[in-house]
Amino acid sequence: MSELEPVPAASVVLISGASRGLGLAMVTDLLERGVKVAAFARTITPELEALAVQYPDTSCFGSVDITDAAGTQVFVKEVEAKLGVIDGLVNNAAVGQDSLHVHTAPERIEQIIETNLTAPLVLTRFWLRRLLGKGRRGRLVNVTSICGQRGYPGLVAYSATKAGLDGATRSIAREMSGRVLANAVAPGFFASEMSAVLGQTQLDAILRRTPSGRLTTPEEVVPVVRMLLLEDTNINGQAIVIDGAGSI
Ligand SMILES: NC(=O)c1ccc[n+]([C@@H]2O[C@H](COP(=O)([O-])OP(=O)(O)OC[C@H]3O[C@@H](n4cnc5c(N)ncnc54)[C@H](OP(=O)(O)O)[C@@H]3O)[C@@H](O)[C@H]2O)c1
Repeated sequence: MSELEPVPAASVVLISGASRGLGLAMVTDLLERGVKVAAFARTITPELEALAVQYPDTSCFGSVDITDAAGTQVFVKEVEAKLGVIDGLVNNAAVGQDSLHVHTAPERIEQIIETNLTAPLVLTRFWLRRLLGKGRRGRLVNVTSICGQRGYPGLVAYSATKAGLDGATRSIAREMSGRVLANAVAPGFFASEMSAVLGQTQLDAILRRTPSGRLTTPEEVVPVVRMLLLEDTNINGQAIVIDGAGSI
């Protein structure tokens, strides 16, 4: 097998689920560092609108539902026309869960799997085909969760999607034979709209188990994602846990 050059830093990054929370924090961080950033969610929030005004030439935001494959593909082509070939993809969009498996309707299970696993895999396939078709190489970061590796009540379908995405990450890393660095970041619980459903008893249990006695913050996840997208690295096929050792 011939030896490949290291995969270069991403210069145009697409982030799903960027209207708030961790997605918005990653978009802001990369724009501040001069990276061209495209992002979508179902809602364009005032925060995204403000970033579009601040970075008119290096940003591209759209209102897209990730489960609408056709709409997502149209948006990808719009991004390419404005910013150039997308060589970094962050699969961040997801919906949470707060219901015991026995009380979760089959339609809700399907929706969680569609949003958190099927749609990101379909988007990743579309992105890879366009990237490789142009002879380019790239960086993939899947935002998964500690729930993909450890058990948490009330999160059965959600955990299944995150474990699934961790598994896909490893196989993409192998399948791409060094043309794409594919990794996952697996945060512990952090404060956001998604985790607002956690009750005090669940939060106390997580905090008791975490040596620092505090939750992870999005700001502690952002630099890891940035490193995986931009730095010279041979990290590939990994799921990097960021949870202050709460799950050890
Ligand atoms: N919060 C935690 O404790 C925690 C822990 C570990 C991992 N994570 C993971 O971290 C990532 C970010 O979570 P977060 O806490 O920042 O959640 P969040 O605040 O609920 O944000 C989720 C984002 O995904 C978007 N989204 C949801 N469904 C979508 C759809 N069908 N199409 C397009 N966009 C969609 C939302 O925007 P719209 O609603 O406007 O579409 C929003 O921008 C997720 O992958 C989550 O699983 C979170």
